[in-house]
Amino acid sequence: MRALAQDVFRYCAPGTFAKTPRRLKQWYNIWLKISRREQHGHDCGRHAAEHGFPDTSMNTILIGAQWGDEGKGKIVDVLTAGADVIVRYQGGSNAGHTVIAEGKRRVLRLVPSGILHEGKVCLIGNGVVMNPCDLADEIEALRATGVECSGRLFIASRSHMVMLWHRALDMADEAMRSQGSKIGTTGRGIGPAYASKVSRTGLRCGDMLAPDFPDRVREGVAETNRILRSMPLGDFRLSVPGCTVRDNQLDADELVGIYETVSRKLSPFVIDSIPFLRKAQEDGRDILLEGAQGTMLDIDFGTYPFVTSSNPTAGGACVGSGIPPRAIDRVVGCIKAYTTRVGEGPFPTELFDDDGRRLAERGHEFGAVTGRPRRCGWFDGVVARYARQINGIDYWALTKLDVLDDFDEIKICTAYELDGRTIEDMPASAAELARCRPIYETMPGWKEKTSDITDMAQLPPKARAYVERLVEVAGAKLGILSIGPARESTIVMI
Ligand code: IMP
Repeated sequence: MRALAQDVFRYCAPGTFAKTPRRLKQWYNIWLKISRREQHGHDCGRHAAEHGFPDTSMNTILIGAQWGDEGKGKIVDVLTAGADVIVRYQGGSNAGHTVIAEGKRRVLRLVPSGILHEGKVCLIGNGVVMNPCDLADEIEALRATGVECSGRLFIASRSHMVMLWHRALDMADEAMRSQGSKIGTTGRGIGPAYASKVSRTGLRCGDMLAPDFPDRVREGVAETNRILRSMPLGDFRLSVPGCTVRDNQLDADELVGIYETVSRKLSPFVIDSIPFLRKAQEDGRDILLEGAQGTMLDIDFGTYPFVTSSNPTAGGACVGSGIPPRAIDRVVGCIKAYTTRVGEGPFPTELFDDDGRRLAERGHEFGAVTGRPRRCGWFDGVVARYARQINGIDYWALTKLDVLDDFDEIKICTAYELDGRTIEDMPASAAELARCRPIYETMPGWKEKTSDITDMAQLPPKARAYVERLVEVAGAKLGILSIGPARESTIVMI
């Protein structure tokens, strides 16, 4: 069996594999699983089969290993070439994936970037909080650039909706926080939508189809208006893109109208995602689970409370899709060659000098959703090790190495100094992390353009040494190296 699978692998040129007949692909996946089993000494495939899940699909989780904005959009785009079904599993339109392909630059917020690949199927999983107005706009914008979502994009009926009142509450709450306790949210209603979900008052996508949907919208507006009246908003004038706000109050009739229109547009996309994903696995389809934000913004493992309200980490991929942990074959961690953060919260390697400004300029570090400038700093090995552990990262997708092409010297943080002690593990408390001082190693810059490189062997020796040291500090293996924004500027080793 193994020999046959190896033959299949040998005769399929990279990139053409997605087009090979399904049976061959199943053999290839079985071979990959056998090699992984030998390599890692465990038998994930057998466990999956014993638990009733077929052993033929190859399932990958892609997560962000820092504070988001690691360049996942591009990596998803690259990994999509070898996947059949792409599932987004958490977050909402707070995320913004920028994908540059065939000369077109597109920012996707909710729709997985797999939609840009012909023949791929995309699912917005149950763990996502989906703003139906944003999604309808995104589908329309894709259509205008020649990408049709019908029949290729599906929305899990269990996913929760971010309603316009969640945006209102997000903005009002952020405005009321004092300096120092602000989270710096994207104002997209993410926290309040997840709060409704866990307090069991949320509206799920499947509810759009129910006859009492307009009544539930009215209830949501009434409750929100009551909360807004009880908040000490003073002179603060709330403004919510997409609807009218008068005297800091929403209009129920207007929202019922908005949601009637939007639910007509979106209801053809809503499905029960569980049989859909089971069928995909039974047919040997490869599933790519795409995370938004990053490990350090995880509600449990991030720099709480300066975090988002979901689990971007690998565990969240299973909860947010319904794919069992034993059906996962590999975890790819996306990590930038330096570090950035948007919003408030501790960031030990943050730079406030010219180096920080150069990273921001050369890396075009402005939020894809909010346009806010990102805070920039050196690579943080403590963050990387922590992310590897929490997510079980097998391979790194290292991005934006080319941004460092011009630097004389580059620093890598290998540990922190906290209250006079050296620590190598991530502190659990944000207050402690704020007191941590980075301990750096300095490496020489390579002062050469790297973005045209197509092979690891062509990397300047100093760039190679930097990459090797990063991987050594972080653990796991290098699987993908990205040296420019275009799809073509990528060296794929997995
Ligand atoms: P929220 O997700 O809008 O509630 O924002 C919570 C925190 O997560 C803020 O610091 C945001 O700046 C940050 N955040 C949310 N989404 C992203 C993202 O896609 N990239 C980077 N930071 C994000």
